Amino acid sequence: MNGIRRDFPLLGANPQLVYLDSACTSLKPAQVIDAETSYYTQLGACGGRSSHALGRKTTEKTEEARENVARFVGAEASGLVWTRNTTEGLNMVASGLDYSKRRKVVTSVMEHHAVLLPFMKLRDRGQIRLEIVGCESDGTVSAGRWAQAIDRETALVVTNSGTNTTGWKGNAREVAKIAHDSGALICIDGAQGVAHGRTDFRRDDFDFLCFSGHKMLGPTGIGALVSKRQLLDRLEPLMSGGGTVKAVSGGKIDPMNDQTRFEAGVQHYGGILGLAAACDYLKKIGMEKVEAHEKTLGMALRRELEAVDAVIYGPADAAGHSALYSFNLKGKPHDLALMLDRQGIAVRSGFFCAQPALEALGANDGAVRASCYVYNTVDEVNKFGEALRKLRQLY
Ligand code: ALA
Repeated sequence: MNGIRRDFPLLGANPQLVYLDSACTSLKPAQVIDAETSYYTQLGACGGRSSHALGRKTTEKTEEARENVARFVGAEASGLVWTRNTTEGLNMVASGLDYSKRRKVVTSVMEHHAVLLPFMKLRDRGQIRLEIVGCESDGTVSAGRWAQAIDRETALVVTNSGTNTTGWKGNAREVAKIAHDSGALICIDGAQGVAHGRTDFRRDDFDFLCFSGHKMLGPTGIGALVSKRQLLDRLEPLMSGGGTVKAVSGGKIDPMNDQTRFEAGVQHYGGILGLAAACDYLKKIGMEKVEAHEKTLGMALRRELEAVDAVIYGPADAAGHSALYSFNLKGKPHDLALMLDRQGIAVRSGFFCAQPALEALGANDGAVRASCYVYNTVDEVNKFGEALRKLRQLY
């Protein structure tokens, strides 16, 4: 990862900053910022609509970006729908499926609110039956637990390819197989997973995959829902409006028959170009290298946390663990985060939009979370450890 910190203007402007909050949002390299800006400086028009030169160029560049982003996750461009973020994609799947034949949805207590809430709402309206699978005391959810819950009544199974609470990378491929064996669909919350390891939508036989640009060095406000092409036809769009129809005439709607049916209104073209540039950036590093670097950082984080006798949430085994750790020392998580902030170390505290998960782990008042990415160094993790040692003496 030598030299990549130079690509991040925010790190250049804040050389002392130790940014350990990438699970919330990642920093952006100049290549991504430039790609997003290039839309405003060089294109500036509407895609998929205007036939003038700038309009055509916008369509061409954003469709190239669609190919690029789809390839990054091993999927077909024809199954990729632009969304604002993972949350929007998950809501599209939740609200778009037909539950008239199979009414049950299975998910786990370790999921983010973006997974749980849309389905809890459907349950509360009586539209589905929801089963929320529990976890082991370390936050892992075994294949056995999933297999017990998934049956022939199950329409959909939803889980993550990496949690934002414990850093466990999960068992999404295994869960997909269990879902398919019962004839259910599988939807993956890839918010953390896509950013930190190679995702192969086709090889892993996922049905839906949702992810956000901003967690993977891309801009905020852009993400994607990737779907098997034939399943898109079975999904009812969450929104309708301009760009989603071939014609509206004689009181009838003739919808588009490709993924643009889901892309209502003028799109976030700058964000789309920025997300494609983020994929290029990560590809240039190589996702295997990203994983290896994060493994080193994760081991360093664990060492520092163990050295101060922190309560660590998540599996004790560092294998299968990303460079993300949630923990508590004595005192309130927010106080600790603020004291670290005074020493130039940015971490997140609270429930991380996953309160049921934190409660299942026994962190009823929340926790502190340190999460690393490609630009972090072992030296930074050591500084974090040093700061924790000083703070522990205060208590
Ligand atoms: N849910 C995001 C996080 O984990 C924002 O911090």
